[in-house]
Amino acid sequence: MALIVCHSPKGGTGTSFLSAHLALGLADAGADVTVVTVAGRDTLALHFGLPPATTLNALGGPSEDAVVVSGIDLRHMPKAPVDPDFMPMLGDLGYLEPGTGRVMVLDVPSNEFAFARRMTNQACAHLCPLDAAPDTLALLPQMFAEAGKGGLAHTSFVINRLDDTRRLARHNAAFIRELCGQRLIGRIRLDESVPEAIAMLQPLARYAPSSAALADVRRIVDIVRPALDNPVPAWIAPTSSSRAA
Ligand SMILES: Nc1ncnc2c1ncn2[C@@H]1O[C@H](COP(=O)(O)OP(=O)(O)O)[C@@H](O)[C@H]1O
Ligand SMILES: [Mg+2]
Repeated sequence: MALIVCHSPKGGTGTSFLSAHLALGLADAGADVTVVTVAGRDTLALHFGLPPATTLNALGGPSEDAVVVSGIDLRHMPKAPVDPDFMPMLGDLGYLEPGTGRVMVLDVPSNEFAFARRMTNQACAHLCPLDAAPDTLALLPQMFAEAGKGGLAHTSFVINRLDDTRRLARHNAAFIRELCGQRLIGRIRLDESVPEAIAMLQPLARYAPSSAALADVRRIVDIVRPALDNPVPAWIAPTSSSRAA
């Protein structure tokens, strides 16, 4: 099994959207996926087309109580950030061993920095969605400083909700590109179909199969997939040409 952590220093950048679509994309590609949200209140289930009143059960509970969508097991562990037994439980369940075709996607809300860092240290990948907005950029130097040298070894960035018809968004995106270098693995366009699908209680792929955001997030899943078998993501390992440069 492999653990993928989705966490951003800023709320509202699409961490739950990315977690859901990563889970859906990896399940489509044949992985056995569990997606876990640790937010007290969260909207993860809405991205699967579920109604707001859906209650997700805890990990480790009876499998007949599981909410399963498109083969994905959806779980809610709001106490995980303060539960000293959460990490050992993941180890016992085998989620800290990459390469077995089973995957856990962990959706961590932005305020849980310390928990996200602890989990990222054990994960095969950390995906960090950012929006191309100045207040998000303002948080990045602090995030890089806190992570320290090597602290971002498993981290890849994604620009989400990008509207490149707006000049400021284009400039902010260029700045993120410069700062993140090859750790920036893609961008997802701002797309009204995303909230519309939620309003219609439908998964995005059913509501708007030709959605721009859906095409973009699928490209990102294709880039992430090799990391499941390799704890050091291939896309951040220096290539022979960059080593030579
Ligand atoms: N690419 C996108 N285009 C349009 N809206 C988006 C996109 N990604 C996410 N959203 C919307 O942005 C809001 C925040 O997304 P969410 O995944 O809940 O963020 P977070 O989990 O980081 O707080 C939601 O209303 C979601 O539907
Ligand atoms: Mg969220």
